[in-house]
Amino acid sequence: MAMQTGDTSSTTTARRAERATGTPAVSAQQRAEWFKQAWRPTDRQDAYVMRSVEGEVPREIHGTLYRNGPSQRILPPQGYEALHLFDGDALVHAFRFDDGVVHYRGRFVENECYAIEQAAGRFCMDGFQTHAAEKTDKVLYRVQPNTNVVFHGGKLMALVENAFPFEIDARTLAPLGENDFGGRRLGMSVSAHPKIDGRTGQMVIHGYQPFEPYVQLYVVERDGRCSLAENVEAPFPGMMHDVAITENWVVLILPPVVIDGASLVSGAKTFQECMTWEPERGLLFGIRRREAGSPTRWLRAPTEGFIFHPGNAYEENGNILFDACTYVRGDNLLNDSLARWRSGRAWEGEWGARPFLYEIDPVEGRVRERQLDDRGAEFPRLDDRLVGYKNRFGYAVRLNRDERGADQPWTTVIKYDRNGGPSVAHDFGEGQFPSEPVFVPRTDTAAEDDGFVLCVVYDGPRDRSYVAVLDARNLGGPALAKCHLEHPIPMGFHGNFAPGLV
Ligand SMILES: [Fe+2]
Repeated sequence: MAMQTGDTSSTTTARRAERATGTPAVSAQQRAEWFKQAWRPTDRQDAYVMRSVEGEVPREIHGTLYRNGPSQRILPPQGYEALHLFDGDALVHAFRFDDGVVHYRGRFVENECYAIEQAAGRFCMDGFQTHAAEKTDKVLYRVQPNTNVVFHGGKLMALVENAFPFEIDARTLAPLGENDFGGRRLGMSVSAHPKIDGRTGQMVIHGYQPFEPYVQLYVVERDGRCSLAENVEAPFPGMMHDVAITENWVVLILPPVVIDGASLVSGAKTFQECMTWEPERGLLFGIRRREAGSPTRWLRAPTEGFIFHPGNAYEENGNILFDACTYVRGDNLLNDSLARWRSGRAWEGEWGARPFLYEIDPVEGRVRERQLDDRGAEFPRLDDRLVGYKNRFGYAVRLNRDERGADQPWTTVIKYDRNGGPSVAHDFGEGQFPSEPVFVPRTDTAAEDDGFVLCVVYDGPRDRSYVAVLDARNLGGPALAKCHLEHPIPMGFHGNFAPGLV
C-alpha cells in the first residue's frame, strides 16, 4: 500500500448519491442496517454460471478469485447479534474466470469442529465472545478457518489464526485436512496472513500463542516444502494478526493487546474476555533476517496502536519501510466495534484504522512513523508480484465519514500512489459495500497497475452480492463488469486470485 494525503473526492457519499440521483440521501439508520445485513450468514452452497452480467468481463482474467469469511450455520441461543465479527463457519467462495465467463461455487470448510457442531445440531463450542451453554467434549476449542484462503505450493488452504491451515480441493472446495507443514509444527497455530515473496514464491508465515514460546516462524517453499521452522522470543503474548516481509527481513507486529493464556486454556473465559488493551507496552516491531537462526530485535513505534494489516514492506537505503492500517485507539476497536459489529451498533466515534508509514533503521534500532492520511482505510492490498519489494500503487477500502466527521462503513475502494500522484477513489454508491480489493495483472509481465481490481460487493438495497471488475488504471471510472450472484453472500475478510487455476 502506498498512500498520500487527500484524494479526488471531497464530498460525503450521501451528498454524492443525492447529487447523482436527485433523490434525498438515505438515513444513517438505513445505511447501518444495510451494512449489518452485509455480514449476515447464508446457508447456501451453490454452484452456477453467473449469467447476469453488466458490461463485459475481460478475457485476460484467467484464474480463480477465492474469498473467505464467516457464515455461522447454527446460532447460539443468545442469537445472531451476540456473535463477534470473527465468529462463523468458514464459507469459501470461488469465482472462476474463464474466457469472459464467471463460474461461482460456495462451500463451507468442513473441518472437525464444523462436522461436530453439525452432528450435534446445537451451538456447542464457545465463540470468540459467546459462551456455549452445553459444550462438546470432543474438542478443546472452536476452530473456524474463516479468515483467508490462499493457494500456495499446489494447495488451497483456508486459514484462521488459532489453527494450522486447512486444505480444501481447489475445484470442489471439498475438505482435504490439516496442513501442518510436513510435521514441522512448533506451536498451536499459524496466522491467516502468510506473505508470499513476490519474486521467490517463498511463503513466510508466523504463529502466535498465549504461552511460551509466544511466536513461531515458518518458511514454505513454492513447492510446498517447509524449509524453516523456528521459535521466536517475544516480550509478551499479544494478538499478532499479520506480518510483513522484505527481501531480507521479517517484521513481526506485536501490538499491546495482551492475551491471558491461563484463562484461555482453562476454557473459563472466551477469547474476548482474555484480551486486554495495555497501551503502555507500546506497539512493537520484531525485526529479524529471513535466514535460519537469525536473532529478533524488538523495537517500539513512537505511537501505540493496534494493527491488523500492513500493506507492503520493502528495503530502501538499508532501512525497512512499511505501511499499515493502524488503530491508535485499539481499545475502541477491540472492546466496542468488533464486539458489537453484528448488532449494527459498532460504528460510533473514531474506530477506524489510519494509514501510517513506518521506517525502521535496523542498525540504529529506531522506528520513525508518519500518518499518511486522516481518512480511515483497511484491507490494504497491492500487486502481489511486489510483496516484499518496492511498490508504487496500493489499494484499500476507505471508510466513509458522516456529517460530524465520524468513521462510517465503507462504500469506496481507493488506489494510493506512493510517488505522490493523486489518490483515486471508486465509490460504489449508497448501500454498496466492497470487500478487500484484489489486484489481477493483465498478463504475467504487465506493468504494476496494468490490470484489474476485483471486489465482491454487497448491494444493500437489493440484498444481493456481485463481483465488480475495475480497471486499475482508471479506477475512478465505471466498472468494466458487474457479475451478479443469485443470492447475497456475507462480505467476509480476505481472499486471493490464483492465476491460471480454472
Ligand atoms: Fe486479516
